[in-house]
Amino acid sequence: MVNNNKKIQKAKVLRIEKVSKSTHLIEIELNNPVDIKAGQFISIYCDGLTLRRPFSVFSNENNKIGILFKERGKGTEYIKSLKPNSIIDIAGAFGNGFDIQYKRALLVGAGIGAAPISFLKTKLDKEGIENLFVAGFLNKDEVPSCIDFHKVYTDDGSLGEKGSVLNYAALLINEFQPEIIYACGPHIVLKTIAELGEKYGIETQVAMEKVMACGIGVCRGCVIDVKRNGKVQNATVCKDGPVFKGNEVVWNA
Ligand SMILES: Cc1cc2nc3c(=O)[nH]c(=O)nc-3n(C[C@H](O)[C@H](O)[C@H](O)COP(=O)(O)OP(=O)(O)OC[C@H]3O[C@@H](n4cnc5c(N)ncnc54)[C@H](O)[C@@H]3O)c2cc1C
Ligand code: FES
Repeated sequence: MVNNNKKIQKAKVLRIEKVSKSTHLIEIELNNPVDIKAGQFISIYCDGLTLRRPFSVFSNENNKIGILFKERGKGTEYIKSLKPNSIIDIAGAFGNGFDIQYKRALLVGAGIGAAPISFLKTKLDKEGIENLFVAGFLNKDEVPSCIDFHKVYTDDGSLGEKGSVLNYAALLINEFQPEIIYACGPHIVLKTIAELGEKYGIETQVAMEKVMACGIGVCRGCVIDVKRNGKVQNATVCKDGPVFKGNEVVWNA
């Protein structure tokens, strides 16, 4: 039976594996399976830290959740130090996730943003939705070995085509003619994809990232501006997002 009550639960660490120069995969097993939409996130309690740390879900199958993460500070250092069979405390899944009602989808992931986009691809494949998954990284050493892309781009050309995935986005749109573009990655990637969507008249959905405190819509620490019904209003990335239509986000700089 699927547990959708978003309660905190214990999970067992199955494995931690280095999958690129700066990325690790952690796979955990839950006692209570959770239904997770691509683009949703779970939060992990990290020993000694007050605030849980949010991570997009990379995979979710047979009670096992995968997360791809980069070490940044104390929380991710703690996660990296975990050993198989360690018991951790997780909560979620939170947020809205991508809406997958479209027929032909261009999927754009950049850096660690390729993780939730890979999960989205799995979901689209299961639904028989045609898709093209492209991703960009700094160089070949940063490309996670656990992700299957249709096309990969690296800034230095050490794997796939040379340059930012954004340099190729217009060409990909013209060739593939998507009905929707889904994106996750740095702010500039999301903003550019949203602008291209407007230019070509294609819907876009972008997974935003903000430093979070409560992670459940209470503290208002993760608010962004969105345009809805002709008015600019606040939306929380953790609860109203993290996925927003590209054309409703107020893109600052
Ligand atoms: C919805 C969501 C999904 C995420 N998914 C992933 C994921 O799949 N994989 C992954 O590696 N990371 C992901 N992150 C970022 C992840 O939550 C942070 O890397 C983590 O909380 C850092 O914790 P820490 O204690 O190691 O570092 P901290 O000590 O908390 O921070 C170290 C440094 O990282 C910066 N930082 C912390 N959080 C963020 C953030 N959200 N955005 C930008 N800078 C930040 C801090 O400002 C500081 O400079 C996600 C964040 C959000 C909000
Ligand atoms: S982190 Fe508290 S409202 Fe989003």
